[in-house]
Order: sequence, then C-alpha cells, then structure tokens
Amino acid sequence: MSREMVVVIDFGGQYNQLVARRVRECNVYCEIYSYRTDIEKIKAMNPKGIILTGGPNSCYEPGAPTCTAELFNLGIPVLGLCYGAQLMMHVLGGKVEKAPVREYGKTEVHVDTASKLFTNVSPTTICWMSHFDYISKVAPDFTICAHTADCPVAAAENPAKNLYAIQFHPEVLHTQEGTKMLENFVKGVCGCAGDWRMDSFVAHSIESIREKVGNGKVLCALSGGVDSSVAAVLLSKAIGNQLTCVFVDHGLLRKNEGDEVEEVFGPNGPYELNFIRVNAQERYYSKLAGVTEPEQKRKIIGEEFIRVFEEEAKKIGAVDFLVQGTIYPDVVESGLGGESAVIKSHHNVGGLPDCVDFKEIIEPLRDLFKDEVRKVGLELGIPEKLVFRQPFPGPGLGIRIVGEVTADKVRIVQDADAIYREEIAKAGLDRSIGQYFAALTNMRSVGVMGDERTYDYAVALRAVNTIDFMTAEAAEIPFEVLQIVMSRIINEVRGVNRVFYDLTSKPPGTIEFE
Ligand code: XMP
Repeated sequence: MSREMVVVIDFGGQYNQLVARRVRECNVYCEIYSYRTDIEKIKAMNPKGIILTGGPNSCYEPGAPTCTAELFNLGIPVLGLCYGAQLMMHVLGGKVEKAPVREYGKTEVHVDTASKLFTNVSPTTICWMSHFDYISKVAPDFTICAHTADCPVAAAENPAKNLYAIQFHPEVLHTQEGTKMLENFVKGVCGCAGDWRMDSFVAHSIESIREKVGNGKVLCALSGGVDSSVAAVLLSKAIGNQLTCVFVDHGLLRKNEGDEVEEVFGPNGPYELNFIRVNAQERYYSKLAGVTEPEQKRKIIGEEFIRVFEEEAKKIGAVDFLVQGTIYPDVVESGLGGESAVIKSHHNVGGLPDCVDFKEIIEPLRDLFKDEVRKVGLELGIPEKLVFRQPFPGPGLGIRIVGEVTADKVRIVQDADAIYREEIAKAGLDRSIGQYFAALTNMRSVGVMGDERTYDYAVALRAVNTIDFMTAEAAEIPFEVLQIVMSRIINEVRGVNRVFYDLTSKPPGTIEFE
C-alpha cells in the first residue's frame, strides 16, 4: 500500500509515541524508528517529512545519540523537537550548552507568526518546556522564530531548506496550540494531504488480507475485547468463513459477557465466520480451587487458556494463518519500532503461536493506536458497546477476587460489578472515568440485615482516572452515586454486607487488586 508518510525518529524521549499520535490526528500516517536506523532505509521509505523527537541525553556529550548531517540535506523537511532541535543545531554548526536556568512546565512563549510553523498560532501562547540544555547559538542560515523569558531560542528555522527546530514539546497537550504547530509542519511545510482515514484503512486492509490469505484457513483467538473483536470482523469481511474464531469462556468474564460475545460473533450474529465457544468454566474453577497466591492464579489462568486453545486447534487441524490483535504501542514497546526499552512481548495472546500448527501470523491492527482501532471498529459497524469497552485483564475476575476463586465468589463479583456499571452509566460517568469495576475482598465481617446477624463479604469499588494506565488517581464519584451503588449491592447481591470505595492511587496501589 503506498501512502504518504512521515517518519518519527526516536531519540529515547518519554513522549515519542505522543508525537506519532498527534501526527496521525492530523490524518497523516507516520511510523516511529530508532535513531540507529540506517539512513538508506529512511530514504527508501520516501517520507514526506521527518520529525526528530526529544531524548534524555546532552547532544554534545561523547556517545550521545546522533544522526548524520546528510539527514538535513535530503530535500525532505525536518522538524526537531527538544533534543531533536538541539541535535539539529549541533550537527549543523550551532551551539548547545547547559542552560543557566532549567525550564520545566507550562511556559509562555512568544512566536513569530510569519513562520510557517506558527501560522494561525497566537503570538503569545503556552507551551510545555522540559530541558536542561539550551541552544545558545543557532546554526548558520537559521533564524530564531520563538523565545521565552528564559530561553532565547524556543524555535528556529531555515525555511529555504525546510528545516525547523522547536525547543518545547508541541506533542504534549499542555502546549495549547501544539497540534496546530505539528499540523502546520506536516501539511504546511511537508505538503501532506492528510488522507490517512479509517475508511480507506479498512478498504485497503480487506483487499490486502484477501490477497495474502487466498483460499487459506485462518484461526483467531477471540476474547471479546476491542482489539481481537476488531481484528476478527476485519478478517470476516475479507475472507468470510475461511475464518474460525475460538472464544474461550473461562468463567471469569463480566456478567453476561460470554453470551454477549456469542450474540455478536455467533451463528445468529451479523458476521460470516465459524464461531466456536468453549465453555471451560468448570475446568478453570477446579484448577483454581484452593489457590490464593496472585501470581500462581495468573499463571494457572494463562496456562489453562493455552491448553484449551490447543485442544480446539487440534480439532480444527493445520491452518495457514493465526490472527493476533497486536496494536502499534505493542510493537513500539516490544522494541520493534522505536527506541523504547522492551516492556512486554508483542504477542497479545502469550504462548499461543507455540501450540498452533500454522504457517504465518496476521496482525491486521499492527499499525494502529488504540483510538484508531476503535475508529476502525465503528467504521466496520461493530456495536458501540463493544468498541468502547473498558480494558479488561486477560485473567479476568480471577484477579478481582482476592484469595481463592470459587463459582459463588464469581457470581458475587459479577452481580456487584454489573450494578456498579449500570449506575455509573446512569449517572453519565461511563465515558469520563478511565476504568471502573467492583472487586471482591477476602474479608468477611459482621452486619445486620432485617433482624438477622450476617457474616458476609465486603465488595470494593474501584474507579480511576488515568491517561496511560501506568499512573492513576481515584476518580471523584459523587457520594449520592456511591450510596445508590452501595445500597443496591447490599440489597441485591446475596453474600455481601459491606461496600468500600478504594481511594488508593497508582502508585502505590495498582489498578487491579492482584
Ligand atoms: P495494573 O493492575 O497493573 O493494571 O495497575 C494496569 C492496566 O492493565 C490491565 N491489566 C491487565 N491486562 N492482562 C491484561 O490484558 C493482565 O494480566 C492485566 N493485568 C492488569 C488493568 O486492567 C489496567 O487497565
């Protein structure tokens, strides 16, 4: 597929995925590559523009990540951000040194609106600064086009060669007009048309899947989560019932979730595919009986999934392709794209490829960010309820039940969670809270109901606001809403006589309970 592309060269900064996100928001496709990538490879991609990201180093120190001067002479527009800006100046003959004043945080910046970078940007605007070093002298043929009280070169340009440098971070939302600046670069300077749209992604993907698969057989592990659902529908539209989806109900799903997945993907749903639901609830509960250690529970649940899937795959026999719901952050985080450390393996369904007899993996969502996956889902007509699902961990309710998992505890947490989700939606909070769910503590306490003494479990309600799921704060849910939830859970869910609201942020807590 030939499409216009911007290459983001990663120098190890923490906001590098955000740079790519913002560029894609301008409907321009871009990919992240490490600064170690050979320049010939970059040239071969024929990008319309290059963006150099921030990074933690000082560009004048020996061994610091660098790039060749040739990069600036390819006739391709280049935008350097933070470290990338300093490196551009350093490589082209300017000067970068330790700043007398370290700038960090929201800062007022004065920009030259005659610069192509700042078209339609306010002359004084707020930007996000984070740097120790500064550009003390711009490279020859560059002019300064922005400054702050402490930073004489907040941006510089050489318009004749389409080279631009910005000291601050336009990709961070705290830079109020940052997206406009990036759009000015990719459209105004690089001349990108901005034709990266999800409808054309869907059409192209369907075509290329058909071409690749031919008459082959394809197997997909469907969890009912956003990524695997979107991948499955895309495959179904492309190759219909050459696709078989195996959905393992491990009995640790949310209330009615197994049936909801079956309604959409099963024989009575709108999609052409072979759907196999494996009801493995009892199998999981018996493996988990008596197990209380969180890591052991996770391990059992993961291994059992592989075993169940393996058995189903054997029944189906050899297939040509296995589908994985890998998305772009998985690719980058596994060190395959940019410069970031290996955070997790890129297989969403860990271990599966080893137990299935197949020739090749298909990853139809490999180039997409999560919100783009959701857009593709909507484009494909997948119900909104499914497309906007909250994240749900692979081990499911198994890690939301503290201590031993039993069928009765699963019922309690499913019912409590269903009430909680219903009331949050009724209060109109469902799209604004990052993640929320009920968990079952391992604590029983004395209560009184009617005139009877009770000795029942305590349910914990969790709700967090988070952008990246790496850090999180407890959400401020109105007390009245919490009270309704509490009273409904105690009245409607047998076995519960207390409800707690979890105020813990992450860190020190995690979002899940185990
Ligand atoms: P924690 O509990 O680590 O969770 O703060 C961060 C985010 O990751 C999700 N999570 C998981 N997702 N498999 C998954 O697919 C898992 O084992 C798992 N554990 C946690 C969690 O729901 C939250 O969104």
